[in-house]
Amino acid sequence: MKKTHIIAIANQKGGVGKTTTAVNLAAALAVAGYEVALVDCDPQAHASTFVYDREKLDVALTDVICTRWDHSQPGRPTRMNFEPIQSAVYQTSFERLDVIPSNLGLAAFDRDTAQAIDRLEEALREISEHYDFLILDCPPNLGLLFTASLKAAEHVIVPIAAQYLPLEGVGDLLLSLDEMIARRKLNILGALITLFDARTSLSRNAVEAVRADQTLGSKIFETIISVNTKLAEAPAYHVPIYSYQTQTAGSSRAIQQFDELAAEVLSRLQLPAQKKEESKRAMHIAK
Ligand SMILES: Nc1ncnc2c1ncn2[C@@H]1O[C@H](COP(=O)(O)OP(=O)(O)OP(=O)(O)O)[C@@H](O)[C@H]1O
Ligand SMILES: [Mg+2]
Repeated sequence: MKKTHIIAIANQKGGVGKTTTAVNLAAALAVAGYEVALVDCDPQAHASTFVYDREKLDVALTDVICTRWDHSQPGRPTRMNFEPIQSAVYQTSFERLDVIPSNLGLAAFDRDTAQAIDRLEEALREISEHYDFLILDCPPNLGLLFTASLKAAEHVIVPIAAQYLPLEGVGDLLLSLDEMIARRKLNILGALITLFDARTSLSRNAVEAVRADQTLGSKIFETIISVNTKLAEAPAYHVPIYSYQTQTAGSSRAIQQFDELAAEVLSRLQLPAQKKEESKRAMHIAK
């Protein structure tokens, strides 16, 4: 049976580059020849918009893990069955990259019962044999959905924006990670500096602050993701940066950085940099 690596991209702070990292790391690993599913665990559904045509949305993660009630019959509402996760997996136009989309309804998960916490882990177990990697894009808070995502994961990558007070709030995150690390096998695979702007001392000071952090400092990836307008634009075209047909200096710089990140991730997991010799860079354009 295939060994699947489940990596959550998590930081409860908003706008630090979690989704950008999840989408483009997933694409980079697919380019390296690995079978990948991007799991959108955020009701904002930003990762879904990258690689998924919302018009065709039929079943989402919401239907797989949230308790839903049918109010169509008179009398007491009846609990609806959970959809099988297989029905929420969509192929993208990007080779070897599938997506399990979310939608706003997933916000209800945070109000679900405590038993709900295991549902994501159980659902992912059903599809894991098909993938080398499951990349989980986590929501920007420490709610039940966040905890369920980390419970389902084996590794966590913490993106940290190289901005003023980069570690603000990270203490809370580390406390919840520590708790999960103590309880089960969760490994901090690495801390990733994002939104780095070499021209500003603010960015450089922020990196120093992260380097000095007791827990994350030793786990920083050498790869740093720079501020790059092409990365900010990509969601508007519903594609990972890898799908840009006409590569500009900006997009190829971003691709290079995510290739380097993928190489570091693979090396930390002791996996080959390229899964198959004959595998080529996929250059698909989203529908
Ligand atoms: N390296 C980058 N260069 C330029 N813009 C970026 C970069 N990374 C992310 N952005 C932009 O910054 C914003 C926040 O990024 P992103 O959505 O990846 O963060 P997030 O942590 O997932 O946010 P949230 O907490 O809301 O889920 C987005 O508009 C995104 O396009
Ligand atoms: Mg996000």
